[in-house]
Amino acid sequence: MLQQFDERNRDIQVFIKDRLYHRDEAKVSVFDSSVQGGDAVWEGLRVYPEGIVCLDKHLTRLHESAKTLAFVDIPSKKVIKEAIQKTLDANNMNDDVHIRLTLTRGEKITSGMDPRVNQNGSCLIVLAEWKPLVYDNSGGIKVLSSSQRRNAPQFLDSKIHHANLLNNILAKIQANVAGKDAGLMLDERGFVAELNGSNVFMLKNNIIYTPYAHACLPGITRGSVIELCQKSNIPIEEADLTLSQFMNADAAFATGTMGELTPIVEIDGREISKENRLLKEVMELFKTNVRNLCEPLD
Ligand SMILES: Cc1ncc(COP(=O)(O)O)c(C=O)c1O
Repeated sequence: MLQQFDERNRDIQVFIKDRLYHRDEAKVSVFDSSVQGGDAVWEGLRVYPEGIVCLDKHLTRLHESAKTLAFVDIPSKKVIKEAIQKTLDANNMNDDVHIRLTLTRGEKITSGMDPRVNQNGSCLIVLAEWKPLVYDNSGGIKVLSSSQRRNAPQFLDSKIHHANLLNNILAKIQANVAGKDAGLMLDERGFVAELNGSNVFMLKNNIIYTPYAHACLPGITRGSVIELCQKSNIPIEEADLTLSQFMNADAAFATGTMGELTPIVEIDGREISKENRLLKEVMELFKTNVRNLCEPLD
């Protein structure tokens, strides 16, 4: 699955630090910490007319990631919401939109790793694009298990949603080379962690399982699926799960803000059925509830 350029995004306005720029002028300095070291945190947000899906949880995760990385001037939720509102208003956007919200450590006075040379304040970027769900959620996706292990806490805690994505990008490259849609990443013990850009679930004997969030991002869509299932009395558990368990599942699916719920129909050439009653029930449950999860900006 290769995303294509969407003509509607040709003239979008992007918010950087304190104002909007046309996309052609929307740039950060070569001294910005994101250029120098991938030193930034980010969130992907989905916009519906009712608001932004789980907005407060996304802003909390951004704040917590920035605190862990010792950013010193983290903008308040109110300031971030105002920047998002300004951006959506400038682009007349209120549906079918994905926002890439990034907070970099900001511009450095000279190149280098040391955060003490970041003396110009952090830099907030609101990039809102027209972007329907990125995966084919009726056909599903094929994935390849990657030799690239997902970071566990003793390396770089996957709970930090940082912009140094090379760990995941290497897994995605392996999937691309094999002509598959995503890389399935294991943790350092060999248990399934997540896809390179989304979380994973599997179904077996009418129970839904998902890996512990030890070496995956504790995704917000993942959390919503767990909560919705619990409220609907659908059995759901976190567990250590192997590739073999996934390959022999009754069904499997991925979750994320970019694609919401997507059936996984193949792992390393082993087919997995998407014709499963419980899978359809969970996908329908999310679809009918996603707008209730939306929060307005004011
Ligand atoms: C590595 C990774 N896993 C999972 C997800 C899905 O998280 P969420 O449901 O919060 O969008 C993302 C999204 O950014 C991601 O980058």
